[in-house]
Amino acid sequence: MTRFGADYYRRFYGRGGVHDKNSIARLASAVHGLCSWWGVSPRSVLDVGAGPGLWRDWYHREHPKVRVVSTDVSEYACTKYGHEQRDIATWRPAKPFDLVICHGVLQYPSDADAESAIENLAHACRHVMYLEVPTRADYRTIVDPSATDMDVHQRTGDWYRTRLERHFIQAGAGLWARKGGHVLLYELERTR
Ligand SMILES: C[S@@+](CC[C@H](N)C(=O)[O-])C[C@H]1O[C@@H](n2cnc3c(N)ncnc32)[C@H](O)[C@@H]1O
Repeated sequence: MTRFGADYYRRFYGRGGVHDKNSIARLASAVHGLCSWWGVSPRSVLDVGAGPGLWRDWYHREHPKVRVVSTDVSEYACTKYGHEQRDIATWRPAKPFDLVICHGVLQYPSDADAESAIENLAHACRHVMYLEVPTRADYRTIVDPSATDMDVHQRTGDWYRTRLERHFIQAGAGLWARKGGHVLLYELERTR
C-alpha cells in the first residue's frame, strides 16, 4: 500500500504534526494508569496501525516488562519503525491482549473493512481498548484540516457505536471496556 509511505509520515509526524512523543507519553500514562486503577494493569499490549510506533516506544521505555506487539498495514512503516505487517480488516491474533490501542486508524478502511476491523479488535482485546477515530461531526467541527488527513471515510458516531457496543462498554475519553473482561464500571463511570 503506497498511500502510507515516507511522505505520509513526514507530513503527519514531522514538525506541527498530529501528535508526538511527548503528547503520546501523557496519553499513554493516563490510559495505563486507568487500566491499573480498574485492576487490569496491562501485561500485554497490541498497538494496531502503529505508524511511527510512539505507543510501542513509550511502553518499552516506561514498562519494559510489558509485552508489546505493534502492527501496521504499511510496508514502509513496518520496515522503518519495526512492526508486524497486518491489515486489521483481515487479521486477528491467536490470543487476546490485555490492552489494545487503535489510534487514528479506523477512518482509513472502507465500511465493510472497518466493520471487520472492529470484530478483529474485539477478538484481540481481553480487557480494555483505547480507540481514537474522528467521526463525521468531528471533521466538521473540531479537526484542523491543515494538520489532518481529510482523505478518509467520514462515518457517524452512531455507525461506530452500533458495532463497538456489540463487544464493548464505552467508558469515555476513548476507553472501551471489553464485555466479559475484568473491568467493572459504575453506572456513572460509563457513557450508558
Ligand atoms: C494516522 S496514522 C496513526 C499512527 C499511530 N496509531 C499514531 O496514532 O501515531 C494511521 C496508521 O494506520 C495505518 N493503517 C491504515 N489502515 C490500516 C489497516 N487496515 N490495518 C492496519 N493499519 C492500518 C496506516 O498505515 C498508518 O500508519
